[in-house]
Amino acid sequence: MVYRMVYVSAATAPLDADALLALLTRAREKNQRLGISGLLLYRDGDFIQLLEGEREAVRGLFHTIERDPRHTRTLVLLEGEAEQRLFPDWSMGFRNLSDPAVRATPGFSHLMNTPSWPTAFQHDPDGCLALLALFQPPV
Ligand SMILES: Cc1cc2nc3c(=O)[nH]c(=O)nc-3n(C[C@H](O)[C@H](O)[C@H](O)COP(=O)(O)O)c2cc1C
Repeated sequence: MVYRMVYVSAATAPLDADALLALLTRAREKNQRLGISGLLLYRDGDFIQLLEGEREAVRGLFHTIERDPRHTRTLVLLEGEAEQRLFPDWSMGFRNLSDPAVRATPGFSHLMNTPSWPTAFQHDPDGCLALLALFQPPV
């Protein structure tokens, strides 16, 4: 079993490529140490992130992330036990959805056409996981 959490948040200021890379480099090192994997999506100032790993590690990391001044309005969409990881090989996968090539991901437009897509998933955990699963690497 694995523990997973998905939350959305809003950047306090727009993050450019350098700022995102700095965030991710640090995050990947730490996640590797903590045995945490997952996926971070960014679009025009909105984040959605899946964290998966051992329960206490995931909750502890989320507590740290929640207090990060680079974002605000964190809202947990789902959390709980799952059978297996969605991204076992990714210490933190990342997609910038402002990129037109990423927008071309099959299923993307159907699920994410609305401006309020993060909160649209608040009462739709399955839809949320389906969205994240679109970004799983091919087996
Ligand atoms: C949207 C967002 C996602 C983040 N994701 C992670 C993450 O997956 N892992 C991580 O270690 N830090 C992540 N961070 C950074 C943490 O908030 C924190 O700065 C980092 O863990 C360093 O913590 P430390 O001071 O305990 O070393 C994220 C920050 C933001 C704003």
